Amino acid sequence: MEQDVLKVAMPKGRIYKQASKLFREAGLAIPEEIDESRKLIVPVPELNMEFILAKPVDVPTYVEYGVADIGVVGKDVLMEEDLDVYELLDLNIARCRMSVIGLPNWKPVIHPRVATKYPNVASKYFRERGQQVEVIKLNGSIELAPLIGLADRIVDMVETGQTLRENGLAEMEEMFPITSRLIANRVSYRMKNERIQQLCDLLQTHISKAQQQA
Ligand code: PRP
Repeated sequence: MEQDVLKVAMPKGRIYKQASKLFREAGLAIPEEIDESRKLIVPVPELNMEFILAKPVDVPTYVEYGVADIGVVGKDVLMEEDLDVYELLDLNIARCRMSVIGLPNWKPVIHPRVATKYPNVASKYFRERGQQVEVIKLNGSIELAPLIGLADRIVDMVETGQTLRENGLAEMEEMFPITSRLIANRVSYRMKNERIQQLCDLLQTHISKAQQQA
C-alpha cells in the first residue's frame, strides 16, 4: 500500500557514505547503485522504503513538511534551525565539533566580527557568555573570512582539523560536539509508528554494538 512506504531523506555528500554504511550494517539493504547514481528519488520496494537524496541542510525541511517521514541530519543544523520535528536517535556518525576559530595571533577587540554558517547558534553562544559580537552570515568556505580580514573569528565545524592547518588557523574554543541524528515528522511518527520504531531499534542495536566494540 502506497501509504506504508517509509520515505527517508538522506543527506547527499560526505554524510551519505557514513549514513548508508550504518543503515546497511544495521540490516537495511540499501541498493549499492544509489551510491553512484545522480537520482534524487530512489524507491526500494524490497524494503517498502523510498530514499530522497537532499542537500544536508534541507533534510529537516523535507521532514518538517512531511514529504519525508524521517531523515538523517547533523546536530549543527538542528541547533541552528528552529524545527518542528522529533529527534529520535543519535546515529553516532559524522562526528565532529563546532568551534570558535581564529588566526593564532588574534588580539581581542571590543566588538569582534564573527563569520559563520550558524548565526543563531553563534549569537546565542556569545550572548550567554556576555560577549558582544557582530555576527556575519556566510554560506561556505568560512575559513576565508579571518584570512582576508572580513572577520576576527569564525564559528565553524572541525572534523580532521586539516582545513585549519592548511590555512594557518587555530581552534580557540570547542563549543559543541556534533553527530548526525535521526529525525521524524511528527504526524508520520504517529501514523507510521511501528515501522519507524522498528527502524530505530535496528539502528540502535547496531550503534550500541559498535560502541561496545570501539
Ligand atoms: C566543513 C567545515 C570546514 C571543514 C572541516 O566544510 O565548514 O570547512 O569541513 O573539516 P576538516 O576539519 O576535516 O578539515 P565543508 O567541506 O562542508 O564545506 P564548506 O566550507 O562549504 O562549508
